[in-house]
Amino acid sequence: MNILVLGSGGREHALAWKLRQSPSVKGLFVAPGNAGTAAVATNLPLAVDDFDGIAQKVKAHGIDMLIVGPEVPLVKGISDFFLNHPELSGLPVIGPSKAAAQLEGSKEFAKAFMSRHGIPTAAYESFGPGDLEAGYRFLESLKPPYVLKADGLAAGKGVVILDDLDAAKAELRSMLVEAKFGEASARVVIEEFLSGIELSCFVLTDGKNYKILPTAKDYKRIGEGDTGLNTGGMGAVSPVPFAKGAFMEKIEARIIRPTVEGLQQEGLPYVGFIFIGLIRVGEDPFVIEYNVRMGDPETEVVIPRIESDLAELMSATAKGRLDEVELKVRDESATTVVMVSGGYPGSYEKGHVISGLDLAGENAVVFHAGTQRDDKGNVVTNGGRVLAVTAYGKDFTEALEGSYKAAGQLSFQDAYYRRDIGFDL
Ligand code: AMP
Ligand code: GLY
Repeated sequence: MNILVLGSGGREHALAWKLRQSPSVKGLFVAPGNAGTAAVATNLPLAVDDFDGIAQKVKAHGIDMLIVGPEVPLVKGISDFFLNHPELSGLPVIGPSKAAAQLEGSKEFAKAFMSRHGIPTAAYESFGPGDLEAGYRFLESLKPPYVLKADGLAAGKGVVILDDLDAAKAELRSMLVEAKFGEASARVVIEEFLSGIELSCFVLTDGKNYKILPTAKDYKRIGEGDTGLNTGGMGAVSPVPFAKGAFMEKIEARIIRPTVEGLQQEGLPYVGFIFIGLIRVGEDPFVIEYNVRMGDPETEVVIPRIESDLAELMSATAKGRLDEVELKVRDESATTVVMVSGGYPGSYEKGHVISGLDLAGENAVVFHAGTQRDDKGNVVTNGGRVLAVTAYGKDFTEALEGSYKAAGQLSFQDAYYRRDIGFDL
């Protein structure tokens, strides 16, 4: 089987690394990929939303399955594009339809979906540009802190949490009237603040059946102690120690099952990963957000813990036969520590040579996020998040020792990583 993975980060390297271990995988391609994916697959220089370009490569390389990493092509409708393609309509695509991808593409859609299916989430109302006064009244009815969410995709920046009522009103105005996040904030969801510890749950579904993948917790802030600006993710741990027993049963009964059944009832075709961002309030799970893809860096701890053959899992998913395969998960914990370029998530330099990759590779699996090869063949930095250093251990503390040991063996100019991943567990 020939597989094409779409994307260029640590998530896609982890998927490709795992697929490479499947005897059934012959040709493995990643578009556009990075220096890490080039070691296990063939990189194809394509933008992830260049659907026609992707279709050409699918034909040229006899691709049998497309696995979509990031959300943008899904929200733009890549699954429907192939379904409706005159020559490629039979191509299995791992990733939901455009209609179902609204679970991530529109916060308002996701909230309304949860409300229709009785899925626990923060109370909310949504507002458009003509509703500014109504938005102010709703803010006044809430207790601080105030949570404002741009409806559309905003590259992880669309959620603003403020303590002050006047600041919240100004933010609402800036989003709705001044288009702070462009088209993405043409509508805004305002919701009740939930206080608790966050975790993420990953589900693989073929539209009818589902498998619950390992849980994970990521660390989004740049600074230790969860301080400073939001990033794409600075590290992750799997499993989440408190996500077990009765609490996991609540997640499945109240959230996972109603989500998969709700999609089916509403005729929203969904073949792929569902990433459910959760918060534990007391002993109860609430949904913070849906994503219609795997998380990054969560994939770099979830996928290494899966023992089953990933290509077989993906094929069963595409065929609607997920009930016929077994999902085997390693008991050990996995952790990943993300090494970023100095200055990230603000401006940063690219092109610095990375050293220590061979040495670190003896203790850990080093997934590449923002890397490429320069003219001289050196692996150099090519993004904010550069490497995700994954290790195993009997528990997350032991796994972290491995991740940190390997991170200490890696270096590039102005490299930074958080030394407190897992601090709150
Ligand atoms: P999102 O982009 O939806 O993942 O939101 C970004 C972050 O904002 C989440 O990871 C939470 O930490 C926080 N957040 C979002 N919604 C709420 C809420 N209702 N209550 C508390 N924190 C929230
Ligand atoms: N780590 C969060 C995300 O992938 O959205």
